[in-house]
Amino acid sequence: MSDIQSVLNENRVFPPSDAFVKQANVSGMAAYQAMVDASQKDYPGYWANLARENIQWKKPFTKSLNDSNAPFYKWFEDGVLNVSYNCLDKHLTTQPEKIAIKFEADDGKVTHINYRDLHARVCQFANGLKSRGIKKGDRVIIYLPMSIEAVISMQACARIGAIHSVVFGGFSSKSLQERIVDAQAVAIITADFQMRGGKLMPLKSIVDEALALEGCDVIKNVIVYKRAGGEMTFNAQRDVWWHDIETNQAKVCEPEWVDAEHPLFILYTSGSTGKPKGVQHSSAGYLLGTMLTMKWVFDYKASDVFWCTADVGWITGHSYVAYGPLAMGATQVIFEGIPTYPDAGRFWKMIQDHKITTFYTAPTAIRSLIKLGGDLPAKYDLSSLRLLGTVGEPINPEAWMWYYNVVGQGRCPIVDTWWQTETGCHMIAPLPGAMPIKPGTCTLPIPGIQVAVVDETGLEVDGTHGGSLVIKKPFPSQIRTIWGDPDRFVSNYFPEEMRGFYLAGDSAHRDEDGYIWIMGRNDDVLKVSGHRLGTMEIESALVSNPLVAEAAVVGRPHDIKGESVVAFVVLKGARPADSATAKKLIEDLRNWVGKEIGPIAKPDEIRFGENLPKTRSGKIMRRLLRAIAKGEAITQDVSTLENPAILEQLKEVIK
Ligand code: WTA
Repeated sequence: MSDIQSVLNENRVFPPSDAFVKQANVSGMAAYQAMVDASQKDYPGYWANLARENIQWKKPFTKSLNDSNAPFYKWFEDGVLNVSYNCLDKHLTTQPEKIAIKFEADDGKVTHINYRDLHARVCQFANGLKSRGIKKGDRVIIYLPMSIEAVISMQACARIGAIHSVVFGGFSSKSLQERIVDAQAVAIITADFQMRGGKLMPLKSIVDEALALEGCDVIKNVIVYKRAGGEMTFNAQRDVWWHDIETNQAKVCEPEWVDAEHPLFILYTSGSTGKPKGVQHSSAGYLLGTMLTMKWVFDYKASDVFWCTADVGWITGHSYVAYGPLAMGATQVIFEGIPTYPDAGRFWKMIQDHKITTFYTAPTAIRSLIKLGGDLPAKYDLSSLRLLGTVGEPINPEAWMWYYNVVGQGRCPIVDTWWQTETGCHMIAPLPGAMPIKPGTCTLPIPGIQVAVVDETGLEVDGTHGGSLVIKKPFPSQIRTIWGDPDRFVSNYFPEEMRGFYLAGDSAHRDEDGYIWIMGRNDDVLKVSGHRLGTMEIESALVSNPLVAEAAVVGRPHDIKGESVVAFVVLKGARPADSATAKKLIEDLRNWVGKEIGPIAKPDEIRFGENLPKTRSGKIMRRLLRAIAKGEAITQDVSTLENPAILEQLKEVIK
């Protein structure tokens, strides 16, 4: 690992303009440094002060960090609060009329809801959930399109102390089943259909399919939001319309006051083994993280119109759609559709129409919009923008420069935010009125977070040598455990050799200014269009096909998606005799993976071999497969390979 060298040589530096610095929440490097110093002087006290200033407590806490049972850290544990109260009720006296959400549907129809009405609807829906017997601690699956209702569902769960687990609408019935069973959920909130790019796609029928699978009889309630009103089967015993449980309910609902450590949600994410991990977050620490980063990284101002394009099915949509903006009392835009419908100017038109000030999206979206219409932003009035952000994967300097010059017109700082499902909020990101930015680096940790780049033994490496990125101290917004699997939590994130540091799973290096450059995952996790996919998950999906004996999946760099999925498959029978048979089989296997996991996991390419390249001890040589997938000449030593002849087979691309 320590021989990973950075190949990027990026020297451009963009300091914030005087005008930006002047108005920023954190102005200048000295202000940033003062915060860092304060956190180092009294670490628990630093976070305690922030938690007191930012959160409205029902009962104040007296303890900050409890590390007596590391790595099962607790923060502010004797404090009592409700997250939904902090996102909604606290605005009722100060700004009830302020628009909380501007929802733009796929077809362009816009709906506004202010804080008073959002609070009322969350209360009504929360009362509706209670009327169905759903209570504190119950797990509720949310499988909804981007909508005001998705936010209401999450907030209503938080209000009654139920633990939500949002499943992205692109996941299959099989993935849904896996999550239902693992979480032992009692209810699902879904919609009849979702509308994306002018197309109607079913959700409820996928839920029905999932509920017919093993172990899903734990679900007692299916609550269905009528989005489109198409044909759909309805099971009167189990299914209930959203509007039937929301209307006629009282518009007030006393929040369930919970302990700071009460789980707010579980979000499943891919790891290095086949089974997704249920990342469990706390209430207070998580809320605090989202609020601080809204202020520091997004430089939030009351006059902002904030738009994070992420789906609520991912962590970004949790922290910067469902919770952070509401906790700050922001006006935000939520978008149902896709960036390319009706054309590739959709995002830019929306920025113009809604006068967006803060725009946060993924590098993959930026790259695809450059390709589909790099000159389109110039056709719209983007003068409302003051800050841009990216998340989910490294951004290449060309895409960064385009984003900076063409979208931001050289006026808007870009916050390249590094974080993870597990960290709950930004960890390494510029404070835009403080740090000079450089294309391709997420710069420095937010004040209070201490990171390091280490070797395999947890010792810090220096200079431009790459290594593993770790977070050295516990922090309030971090993952509390893996739902139902505390051992995996410990071994995955706090392996012994890392000396108590949190192991992120990314490789990184530091430059001469101490800026962090993320080089990608160093475990078997892929980032495809910013979505996190485990190679093992895709492999086990492939192997569950009756025709497949063995499979190995690797990532290959892709211009737009960041990475694409390449699968090497060994069939139980002979390799396909001709290209027509092979093509048919490839299509079948791709669809199979789509059904098993979801369309996002479908391999872009499948190749067949009589065997996989293995060492004599039986280990699949993944590095070799990566080189083959990229079409590179093989420079590795293949003398330990059991069957070198198969390399020729695996190089064969079926067109
Ligand atoms: C990657 C998304 C480079 C990284 C919030 C991390 C990034 C994984 C960045 C987490 C960034 C996220 N630059 N890489 N700014 N942000 N990543 O859980 O590999 O979906 O470990 O959370 O995305 O993905 P996740």
